[in-house]
Amino acid sequence: MGQTLENHAALVIDGVRPGTPADAALREYLVANRTLGAVGKRSVSRAVFTYFRWINWLDRGQSLQKKVLAALGYQARFNKDPASVKLEALASRAVPTWLAGETELKLPYLRQIQREPALWIRAKASALEKTAAELGRCEGPVLPPHIPVPKHLSALRYTGPDDLHKAAGFQTGSFEIQDLASQLVGHACAPRAGETWWDACAGEGGKSLHLSDLMGNKGMLWTTDRSVRRLSVLKKRAARAGMFNYRTAVWTGAASAPFKTPCDGVLVDAPCSGVGTWQRNPHARWTTSIEDVRELTAVQSALLGHAARSVKVGGRLVYAVCTLTRSETTGVAETFEASHRDFEPAPLAISKDGAHRMLLMPQELDANAMFVASWKRVR
Ligand SMILES: C[S@@+](CC[C@H](N)C(=O)[O-])C[C@H]1O[C@@H](n2cnc3c(N)ncnc32)[C@H](O)[C@@H]1O
Repeated sequence: MGQTLENHAALVIDGVRPGTPADAALREYLVANRTLGAVGKRSVSRAVFTYFRWINWLDRGQSLQKKVLAALGYQARFNKDPASVKLEALASRAVPTWLAGETELKLPYLRQIQREPALWIRAKASALEKTAAELGRCEGPVLPPHIPVPKHLSALRYTGPDDLHKAAGFQTGSFEIQDLASQLVGHACAPRAGETWWDACAGEGGKSLHLSDLMGNKGMLWTTDRSVRRLSVLKKRAARAGMFNYRTAVWTGAASAPFKTPCDGVLVDAPCSGVGTWQRNPHARWTTSIEDVRELTAVQSALLGHAARSVKVGGRLVYAVCTLTRSETTGVAETFEASHRDFEPAPLAISKDGAHRMLLMPQELDANAMFVASWKRVR
């Protein structure tokens, strides 16, 4: 690696500024230091994220290099004996203080977000066995008892050393890197071949690709976002995956959709505070504020209300956010229910007991946290 690991990590951390999150600074650094190779890149990424995971345990007076090494030491000790770090320390140091007002801070959750995250991939339903065989070092997920195994679940946890972006199966669209909780959103939608769906906040298309695969590439999937750049990435990924049953359009959240067809289903995978991704991206713990949560709560309610207008009678509306704050999750769902008497709760296909709202927790799945709710239009 030329330089020491702690030097590489310190250079990345030094480049983290307001407006430049750690993952962006890391990406930039790794592009500029191509000679690091797959193993070197992974080690630097791990060191940077470990630093932000344990930052409140570190001695502020030390050099960045020393703090990186100390953080790696904390991680190693925790991995060996998670009980060595007590609830009080986790609740006061692993997350910002405002989070306690938005969720009950319990030990299993706090322990989980101090672990290193799993790498999940979603194979095309038709390429599950082939992908697992080609990649090797893959395991299927173990779901908690309250989540029935979805019919076409094609999630694999990859534990090998390779850079998956270079794998043949990735280049030919046989699999995508997608968190398990995000995959469960697709299964909660459970779209059928021939239906019309709208992925209203499609972004770069992670869930659109999954919806299309579940539809067997048949029917119509409208994919919209306010970001033209993200939609252009979606188009590239769709081409790679051989996805044809879709159209894209810009939608900035206006009251009317950019198309006229009433939909069998609408997914609003809304912009959110992203608290559910804090295991994977610990730097975001220290840049996300309660003001962000308040602002995004209002945005989510507006997007959900506007997107709901495109659901046909008998069709479904699905709201998903990768967060666990009360304001965004149940708060937004309750506001919607109180103001939309033309919608009734619709049981989620991923709930054994027919719940229409679920909060998937990181410790249950070894994945991101995700809230998902579903309603049916009745008139
Ligand atoms: C959680 S991300 C979507 C992730 C995507 N569904 C996926 O699975 O890859 C939320 C998306 O909402 C979009 N967004 C934010 N504000 C919006 C608005 N007012 N109208 C439409 N889209 C918006 C963002 O550009 C972002 O792509």
